[in-house]
Amino acid sequence: MPNAQQKKRFTITSALPYANGPLHIGHLAGAYIPADIFARFQRLKNHDVLHVCGSDEHGAAITIKAKKEGKEPQEIVDQYHSQIMESFQKFGIGFDIYHRTSAQIHHELSQEFFLTLYNKGEFIEKESEQFYDEKYKQFLADRYIVGTCPNCHHDGAYGDQCEKCGTSLNPTDLINPTSTLSGEKPVLKITKHWYLPLDKYQTFLEEWLLKGKKDILKSNVYGQCNSWLNSGLQARSMTRDLDWGVDVPLKEAKGKKLYVWLDAPIGYISASKQWALDNNKDWEKYWKIQNDPKNNAHLIHFIGKDNIVFHCIIFPAILKAHGDYILPENIPANEFLNLEGDKLSTSRNHAVWLHEYLEEFPGKEDELRYVLTSILPETSDSEFTWKDFQARVNNELVAIFGNFINRVMVLSHKYFDGVVCKGSALTDSDKQVLNELASYPSKIEKAINSYRFREALSYFMQAARLGNKYLADEEPWKLIKTDEERVKTVLNISLQIASNLAIFARPFLPFTAKKLFEMLNQAAKGWDQGGRGDLLPVGHQLGETQLLFEKITDEEVEFQLKKLAQAAASNQQANSEALAGKPAVTFDTFSAMDIRSGEIVAAEKVAKTKKLLRLTVDTGLDRRTIVSGIAEHFKAEDLIGQQVSVLLNLEPRNIKGVESQGMILMAEDSQGKLFFVAPSEKVLPGSIIR
Ligand code: 2FM
Ligand code: ZN
Repeated sequence: MPNAQQKKRFTITSALPYANGPLHIGHLAGAYIPADIFARFQRLKNHDVLHVCGSDEHGAAITIKAKKEGKEPQEIVDQYHSQIMESFQKFGIGFDIYHRTSAQIHHELSQEFFLTLYNKGEFIEKESEQFYDEKYKQFLADRYIVGTCPNCHHDGAYGDQCEKCGTSLNPTDLINPTSTLSGEKPVLKITKHWYLPLDKYQTFLEEWLLKGKKDILKSNVYGQCNSWLNSGLQARSMTRDLDWGVDVPLKEAKGKKLYVWLDAPIGYISASKQWALDNNKDWEKYWKIQNDPKNNAHLIHFIGKDNIVFHCIIFPAILKAHGDYILPENIPANEFLNLEGDKLSTSRNHAVWLHEYLEEFPGKEDELRYVLTSILPETSDSEFTWKDFQARVNNELVAIFGNFINRVMVLSHKYFDGVVCKGSALTDSDKQVLNELASYPSKIEKAINSYRFREALSYFMQAARLGNKYLADEEPWKLIKTDEERVKTVLNISLQIASNLAIFARPFLPFTAKKLFEMLNQAAKGWDQGGRGDLLPVGHQLGETQLLFEKITDEEVEFQLKKLAQAAASNQQANSEALAGKPAVTFDTFSAMDIRSGEIVAAEKVAKTKKLLRLTVDTGLDRRTIVSGIAEHFKAEDLIGQQVSVLLNLEPRNIKGVESQGMILMAEDSQGKLFFVAPSEKVLPGSIIR
């Protein structure tokens, strides 16, 4: 156990996931499994650890999702916040608090931060021309605008970042900017914002972040930061013209919100504040600079690679500008995880969703933790396949670790009623095995402290392999007929290995470690007990044998592969329907259709339906009712005045009790997004379309 001087304080943060959808295996492999292993390990070392996370509930990621589903942003974040929290909890990701940025304490702290910087004169107030969507009457920033990245020429770069190359952008940097709301080219309009002059922090960041840090930061983090700093930092707006988020706490900024990447990382601090309130602790010790620098916490941000610029450049500049806060000691970012040869994709449903895994593989949370840890994308993108999942579970967890534990438990019960026996003189091979066992705690510790979790896990499995091989070599099931004393020694040593494995498993496989300690009838031991050959005293009564792992069957793998294939097929069908075209029709058939321009003059939801809107349309000839299945895409109140094209002579149809007298023409893109089809300029209702 570290003495008082060695005891460190760790503030560990895991990236706040957007509460706009469920979690998949890419999330676990990116930030949360490494963070959980690290936090669990530091706790086992008896350090003082605070591990925080929560839902990121602001920004365009949320409002765009809400718009798509025809819901209010609050409804969206409430739904996914609970689901995400449950998935984390069930996978044993042991946050001290899982908070949320819609909480009042978070809004207050974010505003306090902004005001501190404002009062210190850290912002530049600037009126400038920003992109604006005239149709949606909204300024376009962040995910509301896409275009070609000026750095890597990727087509889908956002207004604040290209997720392909990681470059931090301003909307005006984009080549061919397009509004993601209307799909149209934006216009420029003047607005006022508050900018953080990052260029002012250039020298500080170069010194603090890069100098002497080549061997401390991961190479992907160092490389990205080095290249941004080389290309020179620019001022970045910390406010937005949006209606969802934290209000800018200035009279003259009425209606404006804080930039989501200003408030989100402050979410780590507000979560800590809430945790301190709930547990009667002092949150400042984990975040603020202490009088005695030795008391400063070690702040570590676990993130995915798309978050590097925000955690290495922007947030540290904000913390520095504030002045009271410590800066991160490390920012271990992982690369991306792919699935079955393709990128994980929410929109294409190419993913292994955590809530579905939990239902389909109940009780097998550690199996997924194990496999994901074995393939973490630590230095480059990596790949999850179901066959590999099956192979790692069956050939490693079942055949090596599980098999060893099962044999040692069964034999101990069979020969000695589950009592730990006194061994006799040790052979050379016993001594060798015990020596090797003693080497693992420091090997695992070194790897974890260097953020090399795959390597750390491989030592755990090597230790299990050591035990399995020892038993196979010594063959106590044969020896028992001739040399019971020797069997006592072999089983004693094997049980000491088993107890060590329970300790070594604790950071990686928390549920299994607990089960193994129960089987051994032993209180869970801390890290510094690891490596010892006397963890189970002579005469100790073992608990009952339980199975640690079961094989993953071929049927289970096939089921999962089929699910992915079905998702791919339904995407393909949607795409090919869009591509295939329809059979030819005669000109007469076409001219029989009476299509005219119209204007929506009233709109309301059809009661008890999710998708339907009852529209009143001025067709130039009359005002008629048309029922349209667009309620999940547009809010009724936003549609008044919308110019549309209407098929007038479609036979009237009764839809959910309402007579629909025509059809509104819509365009649908490959993502299922809907757009009105209308004359390019305003025309009188009734104008003929042909
Ligand atoms: O990329 C994301 O999913 C962001 N929601 C991460 C935020 S991390 C932090 F700064 F809050
Ligand atoms: Zn790019």
